[in-house]
Amino acid sequence: MRLDKFLCDALGATRKEATKIIKSGDVTVDGVVQKSGAVKVTEDHFVEWQNREIRMQGPRYIMLFKPDGFVCSHEDGFNHTAFMLLDEVKMENLHFAGRLDVDTTGLVLITDDGQWSHRITSPKHKCAKTYRVWLADPVQDNYIQAFEDGIELRNEKAATLPAQLEIIDDKEVLLTIHEGKYHQVKRMFAALGNKVEALHRESVGAIVLDDMLEPGEYRYLTQEEIDSVWKK
Ligand code: URA
Repeated sequence: MRLDKFLCDALGATRKEATKIIKSGDVTVDGVVQKSGAVKVTEDHFVEWQNREIRMQGPRYIMLFKPDGFVCSHEDGFNHTAFMLLDEVKMENLHFAGRLDVDTTGLVLITDDGQWSHRITSPKHKCAKTYRVWLADPVQDNYIQAFEDGIELRNEKAATLPAQLEIIDDKEVLLTIHEGKYHQVKRMFAALGNKVEALHRESVGAIVLDDMLEPGEYRYLTQEEIDSVWKK
């Protein structure tokens, strides 16, 4: 493919914009500055623009360690958005495969593959999500059974689906839920008379937050992680 066409596809640029970018001398192919849009590139070439790798765009699958204070939306007049943490082109094509509250930390999946994210977010597929929860008051003896039985939430017709609680400490638990109602974890504990002090998502299905990531960092998913969403 011609270099200018490659840049149009990868960056969502017009042919005119791509030509301008190339002429600026900011584009290298395998480390060599190229100023002609007619140069041929294949997927084996390493193309950079302003020292940033530009890939032939296939679907993207990203895991982000969302820090506290970032919202899961494209725009927010008040808070930082989690998208600000990504150094990606064609940002407008990306969406969250399930959101976290502004004060929840941990695993957020971001993609431009709608079918893939639907598999995670659709209630039909009951994708498991595991949260580490820090509570204001100690765990009570009835909690494990209460989560397993389902909890009635205000303004919800049906009780929550069976959820699994693992007690780590008297005020720290791991909770696995299989749906994603609004503020679900906080509301479940509130219904039991407790309060969530802090919430952190550790996993979604078989995808576990990489412990090499610091808050605010992200990486692409491995093929195995991407494929895991289709298995069940
Ligand atoms: N449940 C909540 O209450 N908040 C989240 O961010 C995720 C699940």
